Amino acid sequence: MYHLSSLKQVGLFITFEGIEGCGKTTQIKLLAPWLKERGHSVCVTYEPGGTLLGQEIRKILLSPNFSPAKETELLLYLAERAEHVEKVIRPGLEESKIVLCDRYHDSTLAYQGYGRGLEFEWVNNLFKQLKWPKPDLTFLLDCPVEVGFKRLRGRSLDRIEGEKMAFHQRVREGFLSLAQMEPERIKVIDATQSIENIQIQIREWIKQYGL
Ligand SMILES: Nc1ncnc2c1ncn2[C@@H]1O[C@H](COP(=O)(O)OP(=O)(O)OP(=O)(O)O)[C@@H](O)[C@H]1O
Ligand SMILES: [Mg+2]
Repeated sequence: MYHLSSLKQVGLFITFEGIEGCGKTTQIKLLAPWLKERGHSVCVTYEPGGTLLGQEIRKILLSPNFSPAKETELLLYLAERAEHVEKVIRPGLEESKIVLCDRYHDSTLAYQGYGRGLEFEWVNNLFKQLKWPKPDLTFLLDCPVEVGFKRLRGRSLDRIEGEKMAFHQRVREGFLSLAQMEPERIKVIDATQSIENIQIQIREWIKQYGL
């Protein structure tokens, strides 16, 4: 359990979620130096791929050469997360760092649950049974699927990004449902705004946590 009081003594786990191209990586890159300037020790990481083993699993997951069954895909993501939690996230929190993670379990619920159609409770129970750290705060950068994809124009699409629009639409709606279930933790930010405005809102939320 990571308490929100006396933040410099215990870690804080902040995740960034949302569909492709919503701006997760952009916002983390702006936030990390600001937190460091304010005297915090920060760990920036991402999924899938925040460890050496995870990078190999990421290659399998995103390769157009495979079309794994949805159960296989889920378990590959969870295997990647197991390595990431034990090697990066948990140690970071135990060292009292602010861990900024680009995608985490909400992505699994949105993509494998709402997107692929695996049963939500089953996926969520796996997470609970594994006893992985739950984020203290999550920013859901929400924008229409078309807006996200327009921003990725010019980048070659990986296997997941290449899925049909209807899939990404379900994922977006899935994220929004998750935010409704946990409004205290998941802050929805309109990601069609300018990069600067989004960053201002993120910093405002973070200041409310005393950082
Ligand atoms: N609010 C914004 N307005 C306009 N362009 C943006 C905004 N946020 C990010 N971008 C641009 O959109 C592109 C995608 O942003 P970014 O890589 O941060 O998204 P992402 O959510 O990390 O995507 P992915 O899920 O593919 O990793 C980048 O070129 C970035 O500069
Ligand atoms: Mg990114």
